[in-house]
Parts: sequence; structure tokens; C-alpha cells
Amino acid sequence: MPATIVAGPETEVRISKEDIAGGRDVTANELRYTPLEYQELVVGLLWGHAAGEAFVLEHETFSHWATDAPRAEDRFMVVTTIKEELEHALEGWRLLRQLGDLVDWTDLLPTRPKGSRYEGFRHPTTDWAEFAAISALTDRVGCFQQEEQLACSYLPYADAIQKVYFPLEKGHAARGRFWLRQLCQTDEGQARAQKAVDLWWPRALDMFGRSESKRQYTFIEYRLKTRTNEQRRTEFISTVGPELESYGLTVPDNMVGRKYF
Ligand SMILES: [Fe+2]
Ligand SMILES: [Fe+2]
Repeated sequence: MPATIVAGPETEVRISKEDIAGGRDVTANELRYTPLEYQELVVGLLWGHAAGEAFVLEHETFSHWATDAPRAEDRFMVVTTIKEELEHALEGWRLLRQLGDLVDWTDLLPTRPKGSRYEGFRHPTTDWAEFAAISALTDRVGCFQQEEQLACSYLPYADAIQKVYFPLEKGHAARGRFWLRQLCQTDEGQARAQKAVDLWWPRALDMFGRSESKRQYTFIEYRLKTRTNEQRRTEFISTVGPELESYGLTVPDNMVGRKYF
């Protein structure tokens, strides 16, 4: 369970759901005066970064490519991505720490997040093409999620998205595209890239969450997100699909291999 909110003596709601929906932004000091529902959504988002981004330290899946990537240049780029994901995690911790006694810190244990978003990262990767596909697809999912939070209602998070999360996430996805294009320069590499994309395309689509999720509408009402899971997924397919095709890859069937619809 992610972080829980500690109800302190000052739990009166001074900033209502209607206020926030109507354009009222919220600072860190004001968070405790918002509806508990909003506080939990915000803390959940921050905790997702604090605990989730450290997946890059999962050796079998991710970090072994720091030494196993084909060329020295690739290894340096992998290390840079690992460093930047850990910066993302630390930024999540900083934003949580900023909330002080509002958050129950006994809940903030280094738990491995569960759920659709991290499904793919429980599998070891043995082909470099897979790392390329992970970067090109799952980091791109992150970009699609973050681009609509650049102006979200919780100001410290909007600021972090603008300065720390979104710019670096775009770089991770760009490295992935670079590696996929390189692989696609030979028939052998293209076959490996296709196999990796076939595996990671459904996992990336699953990361957007279920289309029927009730919480997605609450996120939108509070201006923490702007699109539904399905809208975001559809835009991803129509943007990223043609890019893959331009490298000579075939876009997998959007329904095959999926676990979360
Ligand atoms: Fe990240
Ligand atoms: Fe990333």
C-alpha cells in the first residue's frame, strides 16, 4: 500500500473539490486543507515515482545492460538512463518529504509496486533489442502520462514534471528509438527488434491502465490528468505505431498479449 495520509488536527477542508476543478492550484503547505481524496491521489502519484522508478536497479531486467550493451557508447547511455531514473525516484522522495507529518512514513517502505504499470519489469531480458524496445516504448508511455501533468493542479508536482520528469523521460525514449533504428539497419537486427517490439508493445499498452478504471475520472476532475486511460492509449498507438513502421517494423495487433483492458 502506498503512503497514507495522517489526519492531523487541521483537517478542515478549505480548498474544495470544486475549487480545484475550477482552476485553484494547490501548494505543498495547502495540501492538508484539500479533500482527503485529493491528498491521497497526490501522495499516490509521488509515491509511484519514489518507489517505482528504482526498477532500473532490477539487475536481470534492466541494469545488467550497463555492462552488457553492445558498444561502449550504448553502455554510457544506459548508465545515464539509470542515473536519471534514480533522479526521478529521489525527486519523488523529496516531494514526499516536503509534506512532513502529513504522510505516514511507516508506510513508505521500499515495497515493489504492483499492478499493470510494472507488469513487464518482472521478466529478465537477454537480448539487447529488448532493452531498446523497453526504452522506446515504456519510457514513451511515461512521456504520454507526464505531458498532461505539466500544468496539473498540485504545483510542486507540475514544477517537477516540467523540470525533472518530462525532459529526462523524453531523452530515455529517444535513446530507445535510436537503438531500434540502429538494429533495423540489418535483417538480423530487424528480426530481433521485431521480436522485442512484439513482446513489449502489449506491455506498454497495458501500462496505461484499465479503460474502465473509476479513479481515472477523479484524477481528471481534480486536474491531475487530462485524458482517460483509453484516450491516452489510443493517442500512443496512433503516434508511436507509424514511427515503428518508419523503421521497417510491423506494429503488433493491439489486442494480442494484453492483460489489462
Ligand atoms: Fe522516469
Ligand atoms: Fe524513463
